[in-house]
Amino acid sequence: MNVAAPASLLFTPLTIRGFTAPNRVMVSPMQQYASDDSGLANDFHLVQLGRFAMGGAGMVIVEATAIEPIGRMSHMDLGLWSDEQIAPLARIAAFISSQGAVPGIQLVHAGRKGSMQAPWDGMGPLTEADIARGEAPWPTIGPSAISPGQGWQVPEAMSEADIAANVTLWADAARRAAQAGFGIIDLHGAHGYLLHAFLSPISNHRTDSYGGSLANRMRYPLEVITAMRAAIPDACAIFYRLSVLDGMAGGWTEADSLIFCRELLARGVDVIDCSSGGAVSDRSTDTRVRRGYAFHAPYSRAMRQGLDGGLVATVGLIVDPHQAEAVLRSGDADIVALGRELLADPNWTHHARHVLLGEGYDDWPQQAGWWLDKRVGALRKLQEAGETPMTRYQDSPA
Ligand SMILES: Cc1cc2nc3c(=O)[nH]c(=O)nc-3n(C[C@H](O)[C@H](O)[C@H](O)COP(=O)(O)O)c2cc1C
Repeated sequence: MNVAAPASLLFTPLTIRGFTAPNRVMVSPMQQYASDDSGLANDFHLVQLGRFAMGGAGMVIVEATAIEPIGRMSHMDLGLWSDEQIAPLARIAAFISSQGAVPGIQLVHAGRKGSMQAPWDGMGPLTEADIARGEAPWPTIGPSAISPGQGWQVPEAMSEADIAANVTLWADAARRAAQAGFGIIDLHGAHGYLLHAFLSPISNHRTDSYGGSLANRMRYPLEVITAMRAAIPDACAIFYRLSVLDGMAGGWTEADSLIFCRELLARGVDVIDCSSGGAVSDRSTDTRVRRGYAFHAPYSRAMRQGLDGGLVATVGLIVDPHQAEAVLRSGDADIVALGRELLADPNWTHHARHVLLGEGYDDWPQQAGWWLDKRVGALRKLQEAGETPMTRYQDSPA
């Protein structure tokens, strides 16, 4: 029997473990630098993320949220290192769920790329000017005592006891995330932060069982996954954001990623979320592909083709509904993640549904959708009467 192809893959629901997302649009985690040293989520986070859920995205992922204070990037980051931080995040997760989307949260340890400025303050290490504003730097940690770039701190190399304690922090934060009601726990394993720093030979020069061979460099992130899986319910999905390659001589490669991803999937990771680069602070030194449309699609495609099972997400200048649909139809990925496009238009997913399926406004919250249906009729009548928004003014002198 021939089963008809779905009219839209983008709007075909996706079931992973205990949840079903209504579509394959994922809000890519985006730091808002909107908290304070408490690391607590506030109304800004609720409204910003709530807009994406009301806008129809199937999976809404909260920004990189630190597992301990020194694991933050900036003073304004969210944290989940204490039980007090659960309640405001639970409020956000509940609101996202109430709109039919699946709530997720990204956990991070910034490692040697911590203690930095917000983008609009320079995106570099904290300076005297920042200290004068009350943003004092904190000591950073990493696999080896190698600074990520000129002017940045030299991190303290973690001992084996530090690593063991750090693994527990990930598991504790994941347990809190599940308690807060998040169905997806996304690990920030990319962009040079601690998990990535252990993988990459550029930042990991260790000579113990956590450095040297590929198996040794993978050891710490794999220990994190094992501990996390044991700490959260089976119904929770784990997504892993990976820099598929460093794009630098002597760095982490696509071939390394395939080996690593097989190990991740074997330990209960559900989705490989493909990004790239960031091994060092100076982005001009990496030679990844040009930042064109869907710029990570070649990497997600390579992961998808090279892995047996598991789902793959892609991100990077996905801006158009037909493009997003083509990413999925061509086999480049199973999930599309959007970042800046959703900042520009939080209702992007609803608009995409109109473009791809031509439906009415049933998918919008009825507080808007009911009126938007009526608006279509009102505008059509004016169009039939030959009127435009400028009709009243067209004869006015300039
Ligand atoms: C404001 C902003 C904050 C970001 N914060 C994070 C983050 O917390 N975690 C992460 O993995 N990526 C972060 N990114 C990267 C995005 O998730 C995304 O991968 C990138 O912007 C490319 O996708 P786009 O072209 O759709 O924006 C951030 C990007 C932006 C624009």
